Amino acid sequence: MSTYGMALVGSGSAVPAARVSNTRLSERVDTNDDWIRSRTGIAERRICSPDEPLTPLATRAAEAALAHAGWAAEDLDLILMATSSPDDLFGTAPRVQGALGAKNAVAFDLTAACSGFLFALITAGQYLRSGAMRRALVIGADQLSRWVDWDDRTTCVLFGDGAAAVAVEACPADADGLLGFRMRSDGSRNGCLTLAQTETHHSVLSGVDAQIGGFAPLRMNGQEVYKFAVREVPAVLKELLESTGTEASALNWLLLHQANQRILDAVADRFAIPHERVLSNLASYGNTSAATIPLMLDEAVKDGRIQPGDLIASSGFGAGLSWGGALLRWSGPQGAAT
Ligand code: ACO
Repeated sequence: MSTYGMALVGSGSAVPAARVSNTRLSERVDTNDDWIRSRTGIAERRICSPDEPLTPLATRAAEAALAHAGWAAEDLDLILMATSSPDDLFGTAPRVQGALGAKNAVAFDLTAACSGFLFALITAGQYLRSGAMRRALVIGADQLSRWVDWDDRTTCVLFGDGAAAVAVEACPADADGLLGFRMRSDGSRNGCLTLAQTETHHSVLSGVDAQIGGFAPLRMNGQEVYKFAVREVPAVLKELLESTGTEASALNWLLLHQANQRILDAVADRFAIPHERVLSNLASYGNTSAATIPLMLDEAVKDGRIQPGDLIASSGFGAGLSWGGALLRWSGPQGAAT
């Protein structure tokens, strides 16, 4: 058993103002509101304009989480930012750190697509549980609007932009809010979902060629990813519940990566979890990649659905392929914890 635990004590989120409805998308690609709603549950998504990069969006989410936790930026030891659409390939987390004025925090990015937030939360937990650090901000932020092919109706209708953050701090081991976790990767199926480099070469010197950096738009085999999700997510959650001795009926909430309402429903049915205990905001935001889980968490915390002491089973899944699960207990801001 670790010396310390990790308490989840604050949350915050930020989304761009521009809403794009399904009907608006049908002006661009051959689709319609009925197809998108019935196949995915999505009604609209938020899209960043060209002058809205990821850093200010993530910074707004981070500031909201700090305010909710009642912390100053200087209190932070760590800022871990899960993103697959950084402003800077060298790292966007340091830009957020600078914007926040979190001068005591080390800040770096973690890339694991739609599993990114969960992987980052679990990673932050290791620093806190070991006693190496005391306070961390875990951010999930993506703007895949910059990377989808807006002429590919099979993918462009699915994604939206957003950012959200969770404040976590070291606590006594018996108050640990990370009750168990699992993380998995299968790179042999990487080709199912990619945002890969283009292959454009240029001659640098006589006999020396190099590749010009750049990325091709997101490509996905939707059916393969769907089958992967409905097979692996229940399996990893089953392992998690068994290893922690938790009955599905004891869960207050199922908080899954928001990719498709049919995936949420299939996983809930597998564990006989009533649909009213399955958190979903897909209709409003679509799939915001690394942001979906904290965006949903923040919404449910702020509207009072998630209460201090609530038990939450969470699972992220997506490109890599990567997937994982975590059994979490929400504490809320200090003083509110049960
Ligand atoms: N509008 C209208 N018709 C469409 C659209 C659209 N936007 N997109 C596809 N279609 C058509 C197809 O062309 C196909 O037509 P056909 O039968 O004439 O060939 C038909 O609809 C059915 O297509 P399917 O691909 O079989 O549709 P499906 O029911 O599988 O739904 C979807 C597609 C929504 C993409 C689904 O497969 C899915 O959700 N997959 C999982 C995606 C996911 O979870 N991603 C998570 C990871 S994201 C990350 O990590 C970054």
